[in-house]
Amino acid sequence: MYKNHHLLSLIQVFTLLFSVNLIAGPEDWRIALCISENPQNQMNVSWQVETELDNPSVQLALNNPEAKFHKEYREFGVQVETVVLMDSSTIQAYSAKMEGLEPGTSYAYRVGSKEEWSEWFVFNTASQADESFRFLYFGDPQNGLLSHVSRAIRAGFMAAPDAAFLSMAGDLVSVPGIDQQWEDLFHAGSWIFGQIPLVPVMGNHAYYIDRKWSDQHSIYWRPHFNLPENGLTTLPETNYYFHYQGVLFVVLNGNEQLEEQAVWLDEILGREESTWIILSMHQPLYSTGQGRDGAKRRAAFLSVIDKYEVDLVLQGHDHTFGRTYPLKAGLAVKKRAKGTIYINSVSGSKQYKLEPAIEGVFAITDADKQFYHVIDVQSSKLKLSSYTVDGELKDEVIIKPSRNR
Ligand SMILES: [Fe+2]
Ligand SMILES: [Fe+2]
Repeated sequence: MYKNHHLLSLIQVFTLLFSVNLIAGPEDWRIALCISENPQNQMNVSWQVETELDNPSVQLALNNPEAKFHKEYREFGVQVETVVLMDSSTIQAYSAKMEGLEPGTSYAYRVGSKEEWSEWFVFNTASQADESFRFLYFGDPQNGLLSHVSRAIRAGFMAAPDAAFLSMAGDLVSVPGIDQQWEDLFHAGSWIFGQIPLVPVMGNHAYYIDRKWSDQHSIYWRPHFNLPENGLTTLPETNYYFHYQGVLFVVLNGNEQLEEQAVWLDEILGREESTWIILSMHQPLYSTGQGRDGAKRRAAFLSVIDKYEVDLVLQGHDHTFGRTYPLKAGLAVKKRAKGTIYINSVSGSKQYKLEPAIEGVFAITDADKQFYHVIDVQSSKLKLSSYTVDGELKDEVIIKPSRNR
């Protein structure tokens, strides 16, 4: 009897060990293909593994139809960082820059080491010419990451499987110290996050440390991504920009150093020659959620946005949906003049009561629904299409380029 009992324990131990090995694999590595400062020639990637890999590497090959497409590959150096989680366990965070790529080219890459590799993911570099393209934008995810955000990401992907990149306007998780929330986010994004370059924006919840608000953002943001560091040097990977086929896309950190970022924005927009300027920031300039207002953000950024006739501002935070008229100096512009369109959106389960802070600026609002958005970019027009997660087109607006740039 005792023997049987020991045998059972051994079986249980082996089952547990074996099942852990089965579960922890590339599909759980939180692989994030990330936009770089130069998407014509470079893409970035990051991933996380519980147990350290021997000689970690990223391999890259041309995405051709041959089954042996990977016979010729390039390897890229990998950075590793040990991250201590809130429960004192550790995780290894890896990141790499795939540099020296050809513009307008389809590549396949995989991450890992010779013991274990991810599948080959496929991506395209940006073209040199200003060719038409589209991208995805999701508002605030934050809650219901696995249960609800998954269907928004999947619906968005099905609507625009060829999206050049996927932007998310902040509050990617609610409490960044709770590792399960990141796990849920990456399960919701799954292989789509490995294949479409991410453009994440930092929300206020990145500053929600151990269930208290902090001046410093969570240490768990940067290990999950590998983003450009071409904004303010004091805001690496949270204030950055890139050019993509006629678009300058700028990510602002709406949480801190707003005046410094406004000066920086004025500088980079002052030398800009792209047809389109798109900004993304978590907190909206014009609020749609009850009891909220974007006065601080308007005071910092409105004059720069108006000066350069920014085309579109993509935001989150208010857990509602709203798309403004073209605005200048806070007012709907008259016909033929050029204004800026602002959009607030939500992709997660948390919903606020709809109550715009300022009357007369929103052309359309909605509440208690999840959304995704497709932005079609051409040299002559930009189309912003807003869908609820069931695929219904709720709003479509065409934006014409500025004549003053
Ligand atoms: Fe939020
Ligand atoms: Fe927020």
